[in-house]
Amino acid sequence: MKIAPFETEHFFARYEFSTPYQLCNSDCETITIDELLSLADVSLEQLGEQRLSYTETQGNPELRQAIADMYSNVSADDIVVLGTPVEGIYLAARALLDPGDEVIVLSPAYDALTTLFEHAAGPAAVKRWSFRPGEDSWYLDLNELQALLSPSTRLLVVNFPHNPTGFLPSPEFQQALFRLAEQHGLQIFSDEMYFGLVQPSTAPVPSAADLSANTVTLCGLSKTYGLPGLRSGWLVIRDKDLLERFMNWKFYTSICPPGPVEFLSIAALKARDTLRARNIARIASNLQLADAFFKRWPQAFKWRKPGAGSTALVGWNVPSVEAVSHELARSEGILVQSAQMLGGDDRHMRMGFGRDAFPEALSRFEDWLRRNSVSG
Ligand SMILES: Cc1ncc(COP(=O)(O)O)c(C=O)c1O
Repeated sequence: MKIAPFETEHFFARYEFSTPYQLCNSDCETITIDELLSLADVSLEQLGEQRLSYTETQGNPELRQAIADMYSNVSADDIVVLGTPVEGIYLAARALLDPGDEVIVLSPAYDALTTLFEHAAGPAAVKRWSFRPGEDSWYLDLNELQALLSPSTRLLVVNFPHNPTGFLPSPEFQQALFRLAEQHGLQIFSDEMYFGLVQPSTAPVPSAADLSANTVTLCGLSKTYGLPGLRSGWLVIRDKDLLERFMNWKFYTSICPPGPVEFLSIAALKARDTLRARNIARIASNLQLADAFFKRWPQAFKWRKPGAGSTALVGWNVPSVEAVSHELARSEGILVQSAQMLGGDDRHMRMGFGRDAFPEALSRFEDWLRRNSVSG
C-alpha cells in the first residue's frame, strides 16, 4: 500500500539534530529526569526499583486516576494509556471509521491528522475545513463546515489549541460546534496535545472529553508539559464498546505502555501545574519578542499572533518558504518550516515559541534577513 510521506517528520528527522537555531518547534523546553523527579519529590532509587515487566494494557491504574483527575466528567476506566501520543491518531483513524464513511479534518494541520485518515478511508473521503486569514488572527467558519457535510460524514477531527495557527475556539464557538456535531450524528476526535497552553488574554475552553461522551480525546505530555522524549500520551474514551474497539487495535501496535514512562508520567502529573505555568510564561515572553520583530519587518511578514498553543502560522513574502528553509538550514543552521508540509501554502511558515533558545534563533534569523537585504 502506498502512503503519503509524513513531511513534517521527514523534515525534522533531517534537520532537528543538525541545526542549532530553530524557529519552528511545536514542543516546549524540556527538563532532565533529575529535575522532574525533584519537582515531583520522587527519588532516583524509586525509579530504579521499577521492574521491566509487561504492564497493564489499558495503563497503570494510578496513572489513569491521575489523568482522570485532570477532567471533570471522566473516570480512570475511560483512559487508555498509549505507547506514544501519535499512536492515538493512528488508532482513531482505524477504530472510528467503517467503509464508506467520510471524515472532515482541519487544514492546515499536523500531517497525521489528515494523512492517517486518508490512509484509512481513502483520500476522496477526507474533506478539509480550512482556516481563513483574518486581519489579526486565523478563524474557522461554521457555515463552511456545514457545507462539507454529506449523509456519509461520520467523523470530525479537530485540534484545539491548534497547531500551527494557535487558534482556540471561544466558549460560544465550541458550544455551537458540538451542537452541530450532535445534530448531524458526528463523532468528534479531539486532539488536545496543547491543552491548557493558553495565554492569559484568551478565554480557556473545557476539554471535549468533559463536554460530550460521544468524543475521543487525545492528550499527552509532549507539548504543554515539555516532555516530548517521554513519549507519554493517552486517549479518553467514555463509550465502553468503543474503548474495547480501540484496545483491539492497540494490541496490534504497542500492546501496553512502557513501565518507566508510566512511572515518570505519574511524577510529571504531580508537577503538572509548575511545568505548564513555566511553558505559558516562556511562550508569552517569546511572543513579545516576535511582536517587536514583526513590527520591524512589516513588508516581509504577515503576523497573526496566536492566543493559545505554542505555534503560529506566519505569512512570508518570498516565492517559496520551502526553498529558503533548506538554504537557511544548510548555510546558517537556522530552521524554519514551510506550511506546505502541513497542508497550507508555501508562502507561510510555522513558528514555534516554546523553547529557551528562541531569542537567539530569532536574532540569527534577523541578522540573515539584514545581510540578504530583504525589504522590511
Ligand atoms: C497536533 C498534534 N498531535 C499529535 C502530535 C504527536 O505528538 P508526539 O510527537 O508527542 O507523538 C503532535 C506533534 O507535533 C501534534 O502537533
